[in-house]
Amino acid sequence: MVEPSESSTSVPEEHEPASPAYRPPFARGYPRDPALDRLLDAFLEGNHALVFEQAPELARSTHDPAIARAALDLHRRLRPDPLALAMLGGTGALLLLLILWFYAHRHGHLPPPPRRPLRAPPRGSLAFWRKHHPKFLTDRSSTLQYDHSRTMEGLAHREGGPATERRKNMTNWAGKTAVITGGTTGIGLAAAKALLAGGAKVLVTGRNEATLGAARAELGAGAIVVKSDTANLADIDALAERVRGELGQVDFVFVNAGIAVFSPLEQVTEGFYDQLFAVNTRGAFFTVQKLAPLVRQGGSFVLNTSVVDEKGMPGTSVYAATKAALRSMARTLSAELLPRGIRVNAVSPGPITTPIYGKLGLPPEAQAGFQQQMTESNPMKRFGRPEEVARAALFLAFEATYTTGAELPVDGGLTQLLASEGGPSA
Ligand SMILES: NC(=O)c1ccc[n+]([C@@H]2O[C@H](COP(=O)([O-])OP(=O)(O)OC[C@H]3O[C@@H](n4cnc5c(N)ncnc54)[C@H](OP(=O)(O)O)[C@@H]3O)[C@@H](O)[C@H]2O)c1
Repeated sequence: MVEPSESSTSVPEEHEPASPAYRPPFARGYPRDPALDRLLDAFLEGNHALVFEQAPELARSTHDPAIARAALDLHRRLRPDPLALAMLGGTGALLLLLILWFYAHRHGHLPPPPRRPLRAPPRGSLAFWRKHHPKFLTDRSSTLQYDHSRTMEGLAHREGGPATERRKNMTNWAGKTAVITGGTTGIGLAAAKALLAGGAKVLVTGRNEATLGAARAELGAGAIVVKSDTANLADIDALAERVRGELGQVDFVFVNAGIAVFSPLEQVTEGFYDQLFAVNTRGAFFTVQKLAPLVRQGGSFVLNTSVVDEKGMPGTSVYAATKAALRSMARTLSAELLPRGIRVNAVSPGPITTPIYGKLGLPPEAQAGFQQQMTESNPMKRFGRPEEVARAALFLAFEATYTTGAELPVDGGLTQLLASEGGPSA
């Protein structure tokens, strides 16, 4: 027989219960008991702390199993709904996934979303371009401040564009070694930066202490910056030894060191003539001779020539001759080195914005006029950037595996088109 509970004994059965008349459906089967009713009241009023504390107490102390069951039932109802718990957990997990996705996207761990391919603007006459796409053309009064980002080249290489993807795939040069003569400024420096960014080990040379120091600071610890005058054969021998010691075998040599000094025929002196040939031609030739034994099979040389080896321009007779000789050497040396599996090519820049224009030996007004003339006579109506030549040189060095003895113009179409035709097509 069931013993009556202590609490129920203190409140006779016939007494009115303390609970309200209304009982929720789940409590309709609860026995009448003042202590239990107090707990039910507290539950209905939302005083869950009291129920949480006293329901187990009542279940323990009562002798009536029905009251104990009801007290425990009330206590159980305080626990959160498992469905609500599951929904809360699900929402939390979803939020976490979103945060992870956002973080991975921001840090480039996810492929970029597909984009519409860039459409090239229609080609046409220069007048057409002037009328419909004036922003693509150079402001002639500020050649060197040309807004590159508005050209097709700039558009194609905006981050995320298809060309960016191609470029990313092409710039994995981890484990490659390269030597760049004249790598402290201009085109050579741009090539060194691109190679380092692609993971290659790079040695660059130069003469001038100030630019050597600046290059050291700009290129960082990944690059070896060496003082070496390419006009001096002893320096070239020492360079070969340094390369052997620092890099061992080499994948790519960019024979880039060069000077450009212009002079009309009647003012050319023997010293002027010899100096240009000593740097641009003799230095380049012996650099190839001394470094060729260190270039591994499958490696390559790229010689930096110039459009002037094809275009006659007043005042450049000696400079142009040094570059024409270099272009010829690229062809002949490619035949000589082919049996060793080494390719030799040349890159031929048109007007490129580099410090070389401050060293032409022209007075400032003449220099400004020269730059204006170079801009106007160029089919793309602008100067090129050192990075554009560097990319072409690196293409010849690593990608153009079926090309040797060739010269690649990087000149805005200067050697191929008439200046008055065409527009900015690349
Ligand atoms: N920029 C153009 O428009 C253009 C056009 C056609 C061809 N190129 C050719 O591109 C090459 C690079 O020129 P750039 O425009 O980049 O000019 P740059 O900024 O003047 O660079 C020339 C580089 O060659 C180095 N150099 C010069 N004489 C040297 C010597 N005797 N020994 C060792 N290094 C020497 C310079 O170092 P220091 O500062 O220490 O002298 C510098 O690092 C040259 O061969 C040039 O003829 C340029």
